[in-house]
Amino acid sequence: MSKAKTALIIGASRGLGLGLVKTLLADGWQVTATVRNPQNADALRAVGNVRIERLDMDDQSAVIALSQQLKGDVFDLLFVNAGVKGPDVQTPGGATLAEVGQLFFTNAVAPINLAQQFVGQIRPDSGVLAFMSSVLGSVTMPDAPELALYKASKAALNSMTNSFVTQLGEHKLTVLSLHPGWVKTDMGGEGADIDVETSTRGLVDQVNAYTGKGGHHFVNYRGETIPW
Ligand SMILES: NC(=O)c1ccc[n+]([C@@H]2O[C@H](COP(=O)([O-])OP(=O)(O)OC[C@H]3O[C@@H](n4cnc5c(N)ncnc54)[C@H](OP(=O)(O)O)[C@@H]3O)[C@@H](O)[C@H]2O)c1
Repeated sequence: MSKAKTALIIGASRGLGLGLVKTLLADGWQVTATVRNPQNADALRAVGNVRIERLDMDDQSAVIALSQQLKGDVFDLLFVNAGVKGPDVQTPGGATLAEVGQLFFTNAVAPINLAQQFVGQIRPDSGVLAFMSSVLGSVTMPDAPELALYKASKAALNSMTNSFVTQLGEHKLTVLSLHPGWVKTDMGGEGADIDVETSTRGLVDQVNAYTGKGGHHFVNYRGETIPW
């Protein structure tokens, strides 16, 4: 029998992160998942066989501490899912410096910082590093002015990922910037197109399809390439 694949999912208390954990477990993966607040981890705990760690991705010392704690582990998949929608008013003049700073730090800077800390723990050659981007991060598609700051933060994540990929050096892995679809979660809302299960099934299918391919790809949960 082949050994179970291992995954580390960042931001799994609810929504797509929780869905990714469920889909991977159903596929026989061994999963470690993080939550910001263990008091909000009931849904994740109820899933069963998952190792739960505490992490606020914005906290640099916590990221370093977790990578130290998990330093003996090698992951076939690191999926940085955590993200925020940002302020209610997304016009440049309507949001505060603190709100914009928080949005860009969490969505674009913290994921790359985390990847930098953990890259040595992703399995060489076959390992996959996935970021939860969005089709809104594509700068070729004029869309969603009401989410202008969020859209820019995902474009910034894609750009930061591009820079990160150029610095990988010896580390051979596949990097994915993934669009999950418009999904019914706290962030996506009830009116969204698809449910979490449909999205995460597709996302895990893409992880499997791209395993071992190398390079950096921007694709949606159905495997369709998105223009940068
Ligand atoms: N839903 C959609 O339609 C859609 C479309 C495109 C892209 N996305 C992206 O998909 C990802 C997940 O979205 P979702 O719809 O599942 O949203 P969600 O239901 O709002 O869940 C967001 C998750 O991120 C975690 N999180 C936020 N900031 C964090 C931080 N600093 N450190 C650690 N964890 C943090 C939250 O933890 P807490 O429970 O502690 O708050 C929660 O688990 C996000 O990156 C989002 O931008 C979503």
